[in-house]
Amino acid sequence: MRVALGVGGGIAAYKAAELARALGERGAAVQVLMTSAAREFIQPLTFASLTGRKVITDLFTGQGAEEALSSSIEHIRVAQEHDVLVVAPATADLLARFAHGLANDFLTTTYLAFTGPVVLAPAMNTNMWTHPATVANLAVLRARGHHIVEPEEGLLACGMTGAGRLAEPRRIADAVTAALTPPARDLQEEVVLITAGPTQEPLDPVRFISNRSSGKMGYAIAAAALRRGARVILVTGPVSIPPPDGAQVVNVRTAAQMRDAVMEHLPESTVIIKSAAVADYFAADVPPQKTKKTQARWTIELDPTVDILAECGQKKGNRILIGFAAETTNLIPEARRKMTAKNCDMVVANLVADGKVFESDLNQVSLVLRSGEVIELKEAPKTEVAEEIVGRILALRRAALAHR
Ligand code: CTP
Repeated sequence: MRVALGVGGGIAAYKAAELARALGERGAAVQVLMTSAAREFIQPLTFASLTGRKVITDLFTGQGAEEALSSSIEHIRVAQEHDVLVVAPATADLLARFAHGLANDFLTTTYLAFTGPVVLAPAMNTNMWTHPATVANLAVLRARGHHIVEPEEGLLACGMTGAGRLAEPRRIADAVTAALTPPARDLQEEVVLITAGPTQEPLDPVRFISNRSSGKMGYAIAAAALRRGARVILVTGPVSIPPPDGAQVVNVRTAAQMRDAVMEHLPESTVIIKSAAVADYFAADVPPQKTKKTQARWTIELDPTVDILAECGQKKGNRILIGFAAETTNLIPEARRKMTAKNCDMVVANLVADGKVFESDLNQVSLVLRSGEVIELKEAPKTEVAEEIVGRILALRRAALAHR
């Protein structure tokens, strides 16, 4: 494996040294390309010592005409001779330049000339990470098929706490290896019906009851299933993220609409994954006009919604059914109870006690199986948790067949 490792100018640049070593330990030949900003944070000699290769630092650094010419085509050679380009830390500035095709230094010209898989590990201040400009640039880079190694949450060098810390070198090295391994297309026979996001239950024409679900978990599951070749039907409540390319999207608003959409598509599906945070109650009597404000207390009567997962459990036949359990206490016993009560093959259980899960990019879940086994996954980005969940579908089918 020949890896071109681009190092951007951020405080996390020192972690790229650990990454270079981790890649070397996996048998990779690593060529480091540093931006001039990166050299403000770490010496090229560190990388040269770790990789046994001269570090490339910039375009047109040659003194004479001949050297200038050879360095002006060097990025083409680097682009041609490497299997994968990984950039860590990928700063907000680098992401912007990659997204827009700007090529004013060695790393960005190599990026444009490179035709293989690209892995980007962003790291920056939380506000820069959540800025609409960065979000838009990342959407462009994701759509281009690049692998994004999501930053982690924690205390940042700037003193703020939040998302933006460079992922651990081991995770980036895993992403590099994965980028070179074509995804298993082992779900080509499957039609996966996924529910995602919250539902909204109207109280009057302008107000509704809802919850904090962002849809990120369900959308990541849809993307993972698509990558493995499945046909995906995504029944989604209102969210603010774009659906993955290739999914058949059914937009719904209320629990009742979600129930109808799921029942409509249940016959053609072979796997059902219910990650939506469905409202448990709805207002049965919704007035046609806006309820006017008065000084009196407003009491709203709510009726229970239909439990869609339980209905799927009754009608599932040979289908694989995966439910979710969001709990504030008693996680595993509650997940087991829901699995039996709703006839699931697996329940993805997560603690939502500190309110962290819903809007976060990270999730820590346990997979509770029918056999009684509980697989506790490490806290990881929802994209990786999604891979784990989708990766278990075939094993669940084998277990279900053995059970019959
Ligand atoms: N679910 C559903 N329809 C509902 C409520 C929940 O299909 N009306 C599904 C969710 O999509 C999830 C699972 O049931 O897969 C568990 O949801 P959760 O809110 O954790 O549990 P509830 O069954 O609502 O039970 P409780 O509120 O007592 O925890």
